[in-house]
Amino acid sequence: MKFFVDTADIAEIRSLAETGLIDGVTTNPSLVAKSGRDFFDVLKDICDAVSGPVSAEVAATDAEGMIREGDKLAKVSKNIAVKLPMTWEGLKACRHFADKGIMTNVTLCFSAAQAILAAKAGATFVSPFIGRIDDTGADGMQLIRDICAIYRQYPDFTTLVLAASIRSPLHITEAGKAGAHVATIPPAVLKSLVNHPLTDKGLSIFLADWQKTGQKIA
Ligand code: E4P
Repeated sequence: MKFFVDTADIAEIRSLAETGLIDGVTTNPSLVAKSGRDFFDVLKDICDAVSGPVSAEVAATDAEGMIREGDKLAKVSKNIAVKLPMTWEGLKACRHFADKGIMTNVTLCFSAAQAILAAKAGATFVSPFIGRIDDTGADGMQLIRDICAIYRQYPDFTTLVLAASIRSPLHITEAGKAGAHVATIPPAVLKSLVNHPLTDKGLSIFLADWQKTGQKIA
């Protein structure tokens, strides 16, 4: 299972990249706005910090405009995955980039039917938004299970399921159980994955007992 970090905060990305556990980054217009920085400067910094795919979202709503913007975004680095909305125009642009060998991420996926369209359009990634579905009272994780089950039936579908809008460690483990290829995770949730009270308690006991031996390893 690959881990992407879902942020445009370069300090967070650099610090998490040091763990060696980050396989890529996703950004979106809201995260870029939150960073308060120039989009292209942010993308260059992120692509220097991580070697995996970096999703950069277009702002145009027509296929021609998306293609123009996507071409410009893709020039930043070969790591860029052009992020396109789940619309007919986005799907047309997706097919264009797939044919050119440029990575794509079809975003704002809220149904299995939409995920089938993304696969047929040759998307590199499709992003079903778990948390935003949960917010409506429906079960976001069921969508991940459904998409993974459908994709498994068709070996010619090469699109990777990128579980997005993740709010908790449980979202990550359940997405993994369903077979999601990637989870894109906000920094705070990613950092919380390591926490367990029994780990803290066990470590304190081991350290105290080790001190009693009076020995040094190095
Ligand atoms: C995915 O690429 C999106 O950036 C992200 O996961 C959206 O998550 P949110 O619902 O927490 O905004």
